[in-house]
Amino acid sequence: MSTDVLDIGSVPAAWTRRHLLDVESLSAEEINIILDSAVTFKEVTANCAQKIPILSGRTCANLFFEPSTRTRTSFSLAARRLGSDTIDFSSSGSSLSKGETFIDTAKNIEAMGIDVVIVRHRTPGTAHLLAQKLNCSVINAGDGPHEHPTQGLLDMFTLRERWGSFAGKRVVIVGDLAHSRVARSNIHGLVTMGAEVVVCGPPTLIPLDIERLGVSVEVDLKQALEGADAVNVLRIQMERQQRGLFPSIDEYARRWGINRQALKNAHKECIIMHPGPMNRGIEIAQDVADGENSVILDQVTNGVAVRMAVLYLLSGGSALENEETTPQQTETRVREGKQVA
Ligand code: CP
Repeated sequence: MSTDVLDIGSVPAAWTRRHLLDVESLSAEEINIILDSAVTFKEVTANCAQKIPILSGRTCANLFFEPSTRTRTSFSLAARRLGSDTIDFSSSGSSLSKGETFIDTAKNIEAMGIDVVIVRHRTPGTAHLLAQKLNCSVINAGDGPHEHPTQGLLDMFTLRERWGSFAGKRVVIVGDLAHSRVARSNIHGLVTMGAEVVVCGPPTLIPLDIERLGVSVEVDLKQALEGADAVNVLRIQMERQQRGLFPSIDEYARRWGINRQALKNAHKECIIMHPGPMNRGIEIAQDVADGENSVILDQVTNGVAVRMAVLYLLSGGSALENEETTPQQTETRVREGKQVA
């Protein structure tokens, strides 16, 4: 097997960012640049015949202050496949327990020669704040209920792989909209790309002003799924749940759980998505999660290619002009994230 070094080419001129903080601020052109780049990375990694040492000599740091299986592992793999060194920081067992601040922790990690920080934190706006405080590139891997941009992008990649484009497609996002960063990133991206987006769930888990994001709201699952081309099933977030947001898990599963009966109103080929981790038997039935229309594991596979694309673009963009985020913009974004929570 050949292990030639592959020249992936230069970053498109239209890409000038050095951070990926959200999907909300991405244009359709920028989203297409990421998705097109991910196509290339998926193809070249599928046959493992060529090395892609774009990040050789660089170091990516995972700074995760919340648990993760997919995102953390996927970023590590993506970085290594591009020739980068990686380090994994976990808040448990760190000097945070001795009173070191979050910013001091991040600055100390950066001082070891880090080029890209990938951060997950429960507080909305954390990645925006780090982008102001650090000199390296920052990627948001989930900031509380605000955004999870690479999840939104890998979900869009998975849909575009099947559809070619988003025009005329109806995507239904079902579940805990109030606490879901995945939902917000999907909504921003899908609306920007021209899809029709419907959100559905218990009224207590749907933010009052969510329609301003360009979606329609449907409490009744049967109505929401009418003619659906894809359904993205959100996890019921037990760890973020305040008491009493819906009467019981049983009632949730009965009224908003995605099962074969509920899907009768959707298109026969309706794509089934879930960002993981799944609560099987609650928000999604076993046979749907593992059924013929499920792309749940494809989403995970595609996540590596999308994250390779993001790392590649940010590494090329780092020499370009810095996108400035003012403290006022950060505060606004933090406030918006909290409102949704
Ligand atoms: N989808 C997602 O963010 O999964 P992890 O929490 O396992 O990273």
